[in-house]
Amino acid sequence: MRGLVGKRVLVSGGSSGIGAATARRFLEEGSRVVIGGLDPAEVDRTVTDLAPLGEISGLAGDVSSEADVESLVGGAVAALGGLDVLVNNAGIAWREPFLDITAEHWDTMISVNLRGMFLVAQAVARHLVAQGRGGVILNMSSTNGIGGEADYAHYNASKGGVLLLTRTMAVELGRHGIRVNALCPGYIRTPLNSAIAATLDGDFVSAYEREHIPLGRAGLAEEVAAGYAFLASDDAAFVHGTELVIDGGQLAVM
Ligand SMILES: NC(=O)c1ccc[n+]([C@@H]2O[C@H](COP(=O)([O-])OP(=O)(O)OC[C@H]3O[C@@H](n4cnc5c(N)ncnc54)[C@H](O)[C@@H]3O)[C@@H](O)[C@H]2O)c1
Repeated sequence: MRGLVGKRVLVSGGSSGIGAATARRFLEEGSRVVIGGLDPAEVDRTVTDLAPLGEISGLAGDVSSEADVESLVGGAVAALGGLDVLVNNAGIAWREPFLDITAEHWDTMISVNLRGMFLVAQAVARHLVAQGRGGVILNMSSTNGIGGEADYAHYNASKGGVLLLTRTMAVELGRHGIRVNALCPGYIRTPLNSAIAATLDGDFVSAYEREHIPLGRAGLAEEVAAGYAFLASDDAAFVHGTELVIDGGQLAVM
């Protein structure tokens, strides 16, 4: 990808799954990276794994906490001497029928996936505006932000919210030279989905991949990382206020 060498990149939720693959991809592109993550030990492990590839450091904290977000974004700015790209990726998911969702479970999902996304995006955007050199913000949505998959009402609502947050940010921040887009991956093989799949019959999971995904398989974290890299690169210089779907054709099925 063009224009990623030397870019200063913050990846929230960069300690696992799609985020860790994305940190790896940006290092391979010659970018300088800070990752966030909830579990300090997992953040340290991922930094140690990826350190041979280039400049990377990590900061643990909860994206739904204003104080933790201030430390994450302030720490990334200090470590990198500024920021150019935010990969706003941290998120959680679990299956739960609509009729069983408690108000507490609803609040937990929304506070990480929507409030957390907003807090990190706003803190980074304020920095980018003050820095005055533009930048890129990429928010993680999902195909579940577009279609209403059963047993994920709280998750679907959080990811649908991310899409409108993204478009509104694009409208307000474009004049500052800050490009804002969202990613909508479908079913991707990551620790998050392995935990969900462990609660389901193995045959159900393979039948799901066969029947719901025209390419016949789950996606890889690296295939989503490639989408983040494209949207952050100069090759996407006129891509703004939209979403990139990476789902093996899942949304094309009637
Ligand atoms: N795996 C999929 O099929 C899929 C599909 C579409 C969208 N997504 C989205 O991609 C993102 C990454 O998912 P993944 O599958 O790689 O999951 P994962 O569980 O492997 O990684 C999640 C990351 O988010 C971090 N995180 C979770 N809660 C946090 C909190 N409160 N504060 C700070 N960090 C927190 C974790 O520490 C970890 O680094 C999520 O936003 C998820 O909703 C995943």
